[in-house]
Amino acid sequence: MALQGHSVPRRSVLGLSLGGAIATTLILPGCAKSDVADEGVSATEDLMREHGVLRRLLVICRESAAMLLANAPSFDAGALAATADLFKSFGEDYHERQLEEAHIFPAVRRTHGEAANLIDTLMAQHAQGREVTTYIKDTCASGRVPAAQVERLSQTLVGFARMYEVHAAYEDTIVFQAWKATMSASQLREVGDQFEDIEHTQFHGDGFDMAVDQVLQIEQRLGLHDLGRYSASAPAPE
Ligand SMILES: [Fe+2]
Ligand SMILES: [Fe+2]
Repeated sequence: MALQGHSVPRRSVLGLSLGGAIATTLILPGCAKSDVADEGVSATEDLMREHGVLRRLLVICRESAAMLLANAPSFDAGALAATADLFKSFGEDYHERQLEEAHIFPAVRRTHGEAANLIDTLMAQHAQGREVTTYIKDTCASGRVPAAQVERLSQTLVGFARMYEVHAAYEDTIVFQAWKATMSASQLREVGDQFEDIEHTQFHGDGFDMAVDQVLQIEQRLGLHDLGRYSASAPAPE
């Protein structure tokens, strides 16, 4: 399932690039409210909310690993294939290749600081992740997970979620902050506009909104869409 949608591009609707402060309060006739509101999202917030989409996909992976071990014959492998597809189209082909690897990582490497030392590992994890999503897609292609692959797939899903949880957390707390520090406020706004253009070229619309819609559809398909199901129990009395 490739990422698809038909949202109107945020900038082209207005025919010009609006500054964030004005755009967040200005409502133009015929202009979707969310299109205007998105103009106030900074480049770093944009990257971090993209991580939010990816984290929801990781939750699906982790939950799927347990569901597979519990009852593989009834597991909807097509939904897991769709999860890998969305991780590829939104995470790998867009967020990683077009933003992090093309813009953020090269700038952070030049800082020669703590964050720069993480880049080789982050790049290696991107490569490992791509092998995993390809394996998930191939294994789930028939709509059912072959019995001989159940345990291997389950372990791979848990390892994938573990790797990307910490990967995204280090990017959020160290790498993106180091990247932001290399720019003035106006440069950050400029690069935010550039990232929006990349997003609209890639997805022909608001890729984030489309990805959120698609992740919800997968969660619903697997019965994982109720936030309350993840609430922790209080510790049992000793
Ligand atoms: Fe990354
Ligand atoms: Fe990332």
